[in-house]
Formats: sequence, structure tokens, C-alpha cells
Amino acid sequence: MINTAAPTISVELRRRFSCATRVLVLTGAGVSAESGVPTFRGGGNSAVWKGMPFDVISSAGMLQRDLPAVWEWFDYRRDLLKALEPNAAHYEIARWQNRFAEFTLVTQNIDGLHQKAGSRDVVELHGNIWRARCTSCLLNHTISTTKGRPDNCEQCGEPLRPDVVLFGEMLPPGAFERAAESASQCELCFVVGTSALVYPAAGLPEVARMAGAYICEVNPEPTPLSDLCDEVLTGKAGAVLPLFGN
Ligand code: APR
Repeated sequence: MINTAAPTISVELRRRFSCATRVLVLTGAGVSAESGVPTFRGGGNSAVWKGMPFDVISSAGMLQRDLPAVWEWFDYRRDLLKALEPNAAHYEIARWQNRFAEFTLVTQNIDGLHQKAGSRDVVELHGNIWRARCTSCLLNHTISTTKGRPDNCEQCGEPLRPDVVLFGEMLPPGAFERAAESASQCELCFVVGTSALVYPAAGLPEVARMAGAYICEVNPEPTPLSDLCDEVLTGKAGAVLPLFGN
């Protein structure tokens, strides 16, 4: 029997939540699921695009071989996103940035929904689908929801690529270092909506734990991280996170 009742937040977690000053939140695709953004994994399946597993179309190798195909995949995901709005989980997390003295939001998501919900200074580990980057001079270009995306760099004219971290590529300079620094300082770490399979992001809760932080996972399904956590709140982020506001 599927237990749809909202999980109970322990007295211990509520106490820590009420007196914490240094808090880290790590999010994954699951935090955007209730907004209608398809996750990559979960429910035993993984995303496929035109017969290709997503981690093939989203790879450095594919970028070398067929940049137009890579753009087609991200154009499709961006078109999906245009009509979607943040959900209660995004808004609750945005509220937390004003509640805690030292709050860090680290996301694996490229959808920009945290920022759309009002989150500032988000550490984007995997880039952002609303940006393109020059393949030569590395200049960043914003992709607007109305005018679409340019093909070539406005500065040097060379082709643009999605400003997203593809499989086989390094994370943006400094992003992980900043996230790891916050993880090593935090008292409370929330892991929301990630399958915790992709590193180095999935290693951040371990850094926080080593530093003595209390780790809370929010996910309707168990993950490889669940056993490491001090508390697991089994449920959807949009239903669970607002419970902290009560
Ligand atoms: N609330 C919370 N969690 C949810 C919800 C929800 N409403 N719906 C699904 N989930 C959980 C799933 O159970 C799963 O554990 O979210 C997780 C989504 O996992 P993935 O699809 O693997 O997403 P993520 O962990 O973010 O993937 C990491 O892999 O594909 C690459 O670069 C991509 O950033 C991504 C990275």
C-alpha cells in the first residue's frame, strides 16, 4: 500500500531547523517534477530522446560529433520549460534564503525554476539551459523565451553551444568548490529530489556529514544516500517542504 500521508518531521529536525544559521540545500530534477519537468531517472526508467539515452545525447562526444542534434535536444527541453512555473518546493526554498544567516542553494537543475521562484545566488553545478556559450571565446549569451537563441557568437562569430555541463565534461570553474565549502560549514543539509547517482554533486552530503551536519533527504523513493541521512522524509518535495513553514 502506497503511503500518501505527509511524512512527520521529527522534533529533533524541527529543533535544528528553528536554531540553524548555516544551511545547505542540494536539489535535483525531482524538485521540478511537480512543475511538469520530466526527471531523468526514477520509477525505474530513464529518459530517451529519439531512441538515444539522454546521457548519450547530453554528452561531450555528441557535441563533437553533432552539435545541431545536441541543440535540438536542449531546444526541445527549453520549449517544454517555457510554459512551466515553479512549484511550492521552489517557493519554500526561496523563503529559506531570508530565514538563515548563511544559506546556500546548490542545484543540479538547469531549468532556472529556482531563480524564477526568487532564489538568488544559486550555485548551478550543471549550468543553465537559458544560456549559450561560445565554443571559441567562451562568451556567455542569454537565451530569451521570446527571441529564441542565436547560433553564433556576437563577439567572434564562432558557433555557440548550450551552457550546460554534458556527460564527460568538467563542472563550471569554482562551482563545486563553493558548494563543497558550504557543505563543510553547514549545520543542516537538505537533499531534495535527486537520485544521488551523479558525482561530484552526490558527494556533497557526505562532505556535510563529515563536518557533523544533520542530513535530511526529501524524496518519494529511497536513494543510495538514504542510509547516510539522519532523517528521510518520504514524499514529494512540493508537499513536504512547505511543512517546515508551519
Ligand atoms: N519530489 C522529490 N523528489 C522527486 C519527486 C518529487 N515530486 N519526483 C521524483 N523525485 C525523485 C526521484 O525519486 C529521483 O530520485 O527525484 C529524483 C530524480 O532523479 P534524476 O532524474 O536522476 O535527477 P538528478 O538526481 O537531478 O540527476 C542528476 O544527472 O541526468 C543528469 O545532469 C543531469 O543534473 C542531472 C543529474
